[in-house]
Amino acid sequence: MRDDTSPMRPLTPDFASYAVGDLPMLSIDRSFVLATWPDGLSHRFHALFLRENEVTSGIVEGVTRERTIEIDQFPAETRATDVRLTDGPAVRITWAPDGVTSLFDPGWLRAMAEGAWHPDYDIPGQQPWDTAAMPEPPTFDGPSALEDDETLDAWLRAAWTYGFARLRGLPVDSGTVQRVGERIGTVRSSNFGFLFSVETKPDPDSTAYTAAGLDGHTDLATRETQPGLQMLHCQENSATGGASTMADGFAVAEAIRTEDPDAFDALTTLNWVFTNRHTDTDYRFSGPIVELNRDGQVVEIRNTGFLRFFPDMSAEDTPRAYRAVQLFNTHCRSDRFLCRTPLRAGDLILFDNRRMLHGRDSFDPQSGTRRLQGCYLDRDEILSRLRILARNRRAKVLSS
Ligand code: OGA
Ligand code: ZN
Repeated sequence: MRDDTSPMRPLTPDFASYAVGDLPMLSIDRSFVLATWPDGLSHRFHALFLRENEVTSGIVEGVTRERTIEIDQFPAETRATDVRLTDGPAVRITWAPDGVTSLFDPGWLRAMAEGAWHPDYDIPGQQPWDTAAMPEPPTFDGPSALEDDETLDAWLRAAWTYGFARLRGLPVDSGTVQRVGERIGTVRSSNFGFLFSVETKPDPDSTAYTAAGLDGHTDLATRETQPGLQMLHCQENSATGGASTMADGFAVAEAIRTEDPDAFDALTTLNWVFTNRHTDTDYRFSGPIVELNRDGQVVEIRNTGFLRFFPDMSAEDTPRAYRAVQLFNTHCRSDRFLCRTPLRAGDLILFDNRRMLHGRDSFDPQSGTRRLQGCYLDRDEILSRLRILARNRRAKVLSS
């Protein structure tokens, strides 16, 4: 049933644009409103979910799109008494027991039914890789990524999917890494500075600042939350050696899950304390090398070998914990998993620091200069940027 009381499309509790599409059939089912679209998709919206997300009567404020009242201020027995389509188009719902009427954008309801509320909705799936599948990092044009959202999107999608992706041809000036970082989001500072320079230093406070090789590692495993992203921008590389290495920790963990379940159990359940070594700071965190979520999915690798300290476990477990870390590292170093590429001046590599084991070969500091500039961001930044790029893409399609 339609009537003409509302000529406007109602605001939604967000800043996204939604296609109206086909309109749903609506009915009331106890404390739910059931919406069914002509293609068969249907969704039961709980009365309190709808009420706490309505903008028209001010529950969600129209400028900030944030909620103005708490859930306990609605009667627990809230339910729809009348649901109909009205012009706008809009879905108009009258609520008991207070008799308030609210309007909803049918495009927003459709998007919710399709799962647009889910954090993963606009995020590509993560694909583990070995070197047979990934001989070279996925590579994109640096200057385009700075200017053009399509290249930025393609680069970030690849970085999320495979855990790493490279830009080439960037300017080599100091601060370029920050410009690129700010295309993604907020740069995260650390005890190594807002930006850090990776080069040989006279009084190094990290092995990274020597000419030594670095085995595959995650950075800052000493902290509760390791930086989710890391970028390394090569400003100069005239030294012999020093090729960059990358292994997919998720792929290594999955291989061990299949090939050696006892080692997998040790990696995922036994904790190690990681500590930094410094005169002024003492970061330390105890956690497993491979972190699983509640569904048993691998979500994080924590493995700075040169900062792994104490086995935080019973003496009985220690032998199998050491065996498991040895196996993990052997895999990370193997031709099967280790992707090796020299960094050229103007290259920038972005990687998921909680997934990839990054490292480098040793280099000869007498033969030339090797200088990188880096910074960290959290995973939230790439995820937010990917969602905004997807949102903007949809808005462009709708307005064209
Ligand atoms: C680091 C690091 C890699 C490189 O600074 O943590 O891993 O290629 N550097 O020098
Ligand atoms: Zn590192």
